[in-house]
Amino acid sequence: VWVHVNGRLVEETEATVSVFGRGFLYGDGIFESLRAIGGGIFRLDRHLDRLRRSAARIALEGLPDGGRLGAAIRDLIARNRLVDARIRITVTRGSGRPGDYAGAAGDPTLVIYAAPFQPLDPAVRERGVAVTLSSVRQVPADVLDPAVKSISRLSAVLARREAVARGAFEAILLDAGGHLTEGTVSNLFLVDAGRIRTPPAPGVGLPGVTREAVLEIAAGAGLQASEEPLPVSALDSAGELFLTNTSWEVLPVTRVDGRPVGAGVPGPVTLRLARDFRDLMRRECVHA
Ligand SMILES: Cc1ncc(COP(=O)(O)O)c(C=O)c1O
Repeated sequence: VWVHVNGRLVEETEATVSVFGRGFLYGDGIFESLRAIGGGIFRLDRHLDRLRRSAARIALEGLPDGGRLGAAIRDLIARNRLVDARIRITVTRGSGRPGDYAGAAGDPTLVIYAAPFQPLDPAVRERGVAVTLSSVRQVPADVLDPAVKSISRLSAVLARREAVARGAFEAILLDAGGHLTEGTVSNLFLVDAGRIRTPPAPGVGLPGVTREAVLEIAAGAGLQASEEPLPVSALDSAGELFLTNTSWEVLPVTRVDGRPVGAGVPGPVTLRLARDFRDLMRRECVHA
């Protein structure tokens, strides 16, 4: 496997970063996860825009421009002979010394990694997944804006570990006021009497690239959709629930803490959006 490290393609065994890296010491950095489908990268521009917004929000300087990042990703995919791939871009605020929180302004560290895409087991998708309402709260925007795709992921890791211990696939995080926000690595949607509803992002969650595409599909199909604050009680009347992210796409949720959602099987709106989203990805990527 070839890995992009600071402008060079190196073999996996040579792909190393400093033990004084600020990413390693403090989680001081940002990332993006993307997908290549049939060789084309899904919504590369949206991911690179979000990366740039994340960098600006944490005052991380020195990010290569979008053209260079795009070319680096394409080179990496070609060198690894990948067609359907999962790609991760990680950018940290370079290296420092332990204890030097504010950090001297050095060059950022850039790593891009690409591996064959591992799809979810189709049986999981067909059945739908179980989620749990986490005891871990969403990081408040005045601590770290959830619109920043930060590599500081400890609270999400703890929430996910709790979810796995409870037999759930994903954790849903509430904010301090008891509103639904998002999953640890996914956005959340509910369908209530045919109407699609999702918490605001930016606002209480990450503005997902998949989420944006799903809202576009809904608008194009004439389905009613709104972005609005949702109290946890909104789950009680939801007939359908689903998660979105780059690798899970549109993933039905059929249980919340052991209680069935609606009829306990993936609902018609979710299935339609899942199909339309997959079609959209193929249309945009294959032969693009
Ligand atoms: C916290 C969080 N919310 C939402 C998402 C979904 O974003 P996207 O659809 O761009 O993958 C992710 C993606 O990993 C995430 O980490």
